This record gives sequence, C-alpha cells and structure tokens, in this order.
Amino acid sequence: MRIILLGPPGAGKGTQAEKLVKKYKIPHISTGDIFRAALQEGTELGLRAKEYMDEGKLVPDDLVVDIVKERLEQDDTKNGYLLDGFPRTLAQAEALDESLRTSGTPLTGVINVDVEPEELLERLTGRRVCRGCGSTYHIKFNPPTVRSVCDKCGAELYQRDDDTVETVKQRLEVYRQQTAPLIDYYSGQGILFTVDGSREIEEVFREITSILDQQ
Ligand code: AP5
Ligand code: MG
Ligand code: ZN
Repeated sequence: MRIILLGPPGAGKGTQAEKLVKKYKIPHISTGDIFRAALQEGTELGLRAKEYMDEGKLVPDDLVVDIVKERLEQDDTKNGYLLDGFPRTLAQAEALDESLRTSGTPLTGVINVDVEPEELLERLTGRRVCRGCGSTYHIKFNPPTVRSVCDKCGAELYQRDDDTVETVKQRLEVYRQQTAPLIDYYSGQGILFTVDGSREIEEVFREITSILDQQ
C-alpha cells in the first residue's frame, strides 16, 4: 500500500495518518515532521527549513525531494508507506513519479482530504501536539482527557510555531497556489480519491479505509 495524503493545512492529514499507519502497518512519512525533528536536533537541515516554515512558505523542492528519496530507500518502506505533506508542488510530484517509475513501484492511490478554507483556521489555531509521541489534539474538536497532557504517553502538549493566525493564512495561500494543482495532476492519472474531510474524524477514517480496501 503506497499512499499519498493530499489536502490543505489542517485538513486532518496527520490525524488520519496516525490511524491509517496503525491499520495498514506501514511507515508514516511526513516531511513536516522530518523538518521539525531535524530542528529539535539542531541540524543544518532543521535550521534551514525553519526559515521557511516560520513564514508559512515551502521549503525548496531540491531539499525536500532528496530527503524523501532517501527515506523511501529504507527497508521499512518495502511493503508500502504513507506520504503526508509530500508532494506539495508539481516539481515534487514529477520527481516522485520519476523515482517510482524507476523502482517499478506505482502508487496505490492519492487521498485528497477536502475541507473548506473557513474551517481550517479554527482547526489550526486550536491544534495541540504532543512533545513525546507527536499525537495531535484539538482544544475543541478532539481534546485530551486532561488539559495539555497527552492521553497516549502523558507528555506535555504544545502549540506549533506556525499555527498563528498570520502564518496559517500564508500557508493556506501557498496551498492554493502551489499544492492545489496536484488535485488535477493525480486526477489525470486516475488515482485520485476525494473524501469529505469536514466530518467527524472517525467517519473520515471509515471513508478512507473503504476506498483503500477496494484498491
Ligand atoms: P506540515 O507539517 O505538513 O503542515 P501542513 O501541511 O500545513 O499540515 P498540517 O500538519 O498543519 O495539517 P494536517 O492536515 O496534518 O492536520 P491535522 O491532522 O494536524 O508542514 C509544515 C511546513 O513544513 C510547511 O508549511 C512547509 O514550510 C514545510 N514543508 C512540509 N512538507 C513540505 C514539502 N513537501 N515541501 C515544501 N515544504 C514542506 O489536524 C489539524 C487540527 O484539526 C488538529 O487540531 C486536529 O485535531 C483537528 N482535526 C483533524 N481532523 C478533524 C476533523 N475531522 N474534525 C475536526 N477537527 C479535526
Ligand atoms: Mg500534519
Ligand atoms: Zn504523546
């Protein structure tokens, strides 16, 4: 199962990814998570990525593509993987296609999680993320049992630096201009499945798995 989760910031890619990788036992590859982890470790990559992330802009294609290619060469991707937040530009999609052609491993499907822009701002500004295990919560839509504490591992929850109103607006605009064209790109390949991401988390999950189980 080789899947891409496509969708605007806040659509629920990370939330659904957590559940999907558990069900299908495949690795979750999120370029955003890779950059945040690199920053935490204080590496050159993390510091470079931060400059773009803090402004809500995309990290340059060449940097992102190399990281994903390397990641996809690791052994744990042999039985599939879930890409979350990659590709995000046509150039990234073309580079990915090229390398999948070379390895003879086509994508199973691209799940486009569709949510109206008006809803995304509230989702993102209310998001909280676990410092320990990376699980995602929402103060209103998906609150932890104890305020600011992760249900799964007990670690502290924090708010992402790029989840401020200003940066979110910029990220949504970048999505509209640079990432939304991928909907047509994958639809043209006949592998795009659009789900209504505005419903309850469990309902969205059910729809995605019923699509994937038919592939
Ligand atoms: P990244 O980390 O990928 O962020 P993003 O795409 O902006 O997406 P988010 O993680 O914000 O949203 P999500 O869809 O995962 O939503 P979530 O499930 O958390 O990228 C960050 C930055 O890194 C980019 O801006 C860029 O700078 C850089 N970057 C990353 N990849 C790159 C690439 N390929 N190329 C270049 N640059 C790249 O849910 C959001 C909130 O909503 C949560 O609080 C959740 O609890 C809640 N929620 C989820 N589902 C529902 C639901 N159904 N109903 C109600 N609430 C819900
Ligand atoms: Mg995410
Ligand atoms: Zn946790």
